[in-house]
Amino acid sequence: MTLTNKVVLVTGSSKGLGKCIAQKFAKMGGKVIVNYANNAENANRVVEEIKNEGGEAIKLQADVTDEADVQKLVRNAEHAFSQPIDILVNNATGPQPELSLEEVTWEDYLDQLHFSVKSPLLLTKEVMGSMKENQWGRIINIGSEVVGLGNSHFSNYVTAKSSVIGMTRSWANELGEYGITVNAVHPGFTPVERHGEVTEESARDYVDQVPMKRLGKPEDIASMVAYLASEEASFITGQNMNVNGGNTFGS
Ligand SMILES: NC(=O)c1ccc[n+]([C@@H]2O[C@H](COP(=O)([O-])OP(=O)(O)OC[C@H]3O[C@@H](n4cnc5c(N)ncnc54)[C@H](OP(=O)(O)O)[C@@H]3O)[C@@H](O)[C@H]2O)c1
Repeated sequence: MTLTNKVVLVTGSSKGLGKCIAQKFAKMGGKVIVNYANNAENANRVVEEIKNEGGEAIKLQADVTDEADVQKLVRNAEHAFSQPIDILVNNATGPQPELSLEEVTWEDYLDQLHFSVKSPLLLTKEVMGSMKENQWGRIINIGSEVVGLGNSHFSNYVTAKSSVIGMTRSWANELGEYGITVNAVHPGFTPVERHGEVTEESARDYVDQVPMKRLGKPEDIASMVAYLASEEASFITGQNMNVNGGNTFGS
């Protein structure tokens, strides 16, 4: 699978899953925009690592939940590579507090909806014009297995990630005729920097219920995202891909 000459924007790719997805795209020959909100040092590191391995990447700061920032991000990305964005991965997330129904407020729900719905909407509206013109595009929304699990004390996050499913299917229906596919990838528990040290032992209760009997690795998620972005996946749209060792089924 190659992505030569494709411009890829991965939101929130200065660390965590986004970083691994950005690195995977760069290895496939994509021109990668490493987006971040706060930590320029992390983003610099990702760009340097990609360049050291012979890949192409730039970093661009933007709050992807803010309309003016999103417009500037897309303009700057197109300017930097002298071509429009071909592949959009809506991955960025803010804090995800676990809250009981007693504790949770509408603002807590909105905080999550800003990342799962508002940001993908703003970005998709900004990039779809050129994708339509090119009759080619890939939009990949990062959801979560929590949609299938319905975790208690997490309804703010579960609700927002559930929206990704209907949104993805609706956009797929609307954009399919232009050669644009829209899919969602739902990771299982995949420890990244923010989770600190997590071993299979410390996560035994979780791992025990996973058919494949292990935690997710960022590479597991990046591989699925890369496949969906590839030419090989041109007839796959509107789908929900659970990448969680079989922990959930369907959407
Ligand atoms: N890891 C898991 O176990 C897991 C499981 C299921 C689903 N997911 C989903 O996978 C995605 C990535 O999660 P993660 O665990 O990799 O997250 P993470 O490690 O916390 O990384 C979040 C990224 O988003 C950026 N970011 C935060 N606020 C932003 C904003 N307003 N605008 C632009 N970028 C912003 C951060 O940049 P700064 O550091 O500069 O703020 C960082 O690069 C999320 O959608 C998450 O819900 C993750």
